[in-house]
Amino acid sequence: MQLSLIYARSLNRCIGKEGGIPWHLPDEFGHFKKTTLGKPIIMGRKTYEDHKSALPGRRNIVISRQPDYSVVEGIELADSLESAIAMATETSDEIFVIGGVHFFVEAMPLASRIYETVVQAEIDGEATLPAFDLSEWETTLLGEHDIDERHAYAYKMYEHRRLASI
Ligand SMILES: NC(=O)c1ccc[n+]([C@@H]2O[C@H](COP(=O)([O-])OP(=O)(O)OC[C@H]3O[C@@H](n4cnc5c(N)ncnc54)[C@H](OP(=O)(O)O)[C@@H]3O)[C@@H](O)[C@H]2O)c1
Repeated sequence: MQLSLIYARSLNRCIGKEGGIPWHLPDEFGHFKKTTLGKPIIMGRKTYEDHKSALPGRRNIVISRQPDYSVVEGIELADSLESAIAMATETSDEIFVIGGVHFFVEAMPLASRIYETVVQAEIDGEATLPAFDLSEWETTLLGEHDIDERHAYAYKMYEHRRLASI
């Protein structure tokens, strides 16, 4: 099983503001979609509530401690990262954790890939990632995007591969 994290963060490591994504970068969302399509995606309840629908073409597994939490069609509920991974492993050998902060931190020691977009701006928001130690990872720049009429911020897309086996 390969566990991958995928996120976009600002230079100061913000990923979320007022329950949502603090930027609108359609081509970056296209990168997220292309990378995760066909794979199970695991997310926290608040990340799910940001869009309140299942992302198509992927198994959507939402983690909540609320046993009676009501979700829309196409969403499966899990009560922990461990059980979400066990559910996802039944149907795929690559699994994505797509947020939020707690699950990126909890999944990091288990992950062998990180798809990281760095938005080239300092942005305020309550959801921020701690610095991850990537010294034992190999980093590839996958692409860059400049500011244009549809993208208010430039961004860079990286893939980090863990060097040591886990
Ligand atoms: N930029 C990006 O790439 C990106 C990606 C994802 C999310 N985001 C942003 O990040 C923000 C949401 O992230 P967040 O970190 O605030 O929340 P989150 O991780 O999406 O959801 C938190 C919820 O997950 C459940 N949870 C947390 N720990 C748990 C555990 N150990 N066991 C079981 N359930 C647990 C709880 O749900 P219950 O309260 O229901 O128990 C908790 O309230 C939004 O602003 C979103 O837009 C950004």
